[in-house]
Amino acid sequence: MSDSFLNEGSRPFYTHFTCEHEAIDGVIHDLQRDLNDVSRKLPTSQIAGRLIQLREMMSRHFLEEEEGCFDEICARQPHMCTETKQLEQTHKMLLEIVDELIADVDEANSGTAWRTRFNRFEHTMMAHENDERTLVRRGLMLPEEDA
Ligand SMILES: [Fe+2]
Repeated sequence: MSDSFLNEGSRPFYTHFTCEHEAIDGVIHDLQRDLNDVSRKLPTSQIAGRLIQLREMMSRHFLEEEEGCFDEICARQPHMCTETKQLEQTHKMLLEIVDELIADVDEANSGTAWRTRFNRFEHTMMAHENDERTLVRRGLMLPEEDA
């Protein structure tokens, strides 16, 4: 089994993986934009609904990554298993953060604390996707110019 065969098989997965990141980013950025729109205040029920939808997208996507490419990377390159395990831990943490934001959604329109937590979540999620992209490219041995 040659590396080129593996790389050919990895490319469609990588495209799917980046598309899903873009979809998740879109939901987060749209919510951020609407939260910052001073001309209309989003009802907390709508914020909750959008966060619940986001959580579902995230958990489905994370599971797919963990059972798909993370396991494959770990099997192909055992020295990278620690890193894939770390990303799995971050997945857990990110879902917990969203759960807490949902639980406290009544605070979304009062004061700045909830908004600060949401901003922090947005940054953590973007940083995580970046780390993941780098690791998956390295793990699946995809050349840099395929970005
Ligand atoms: Fe991901």
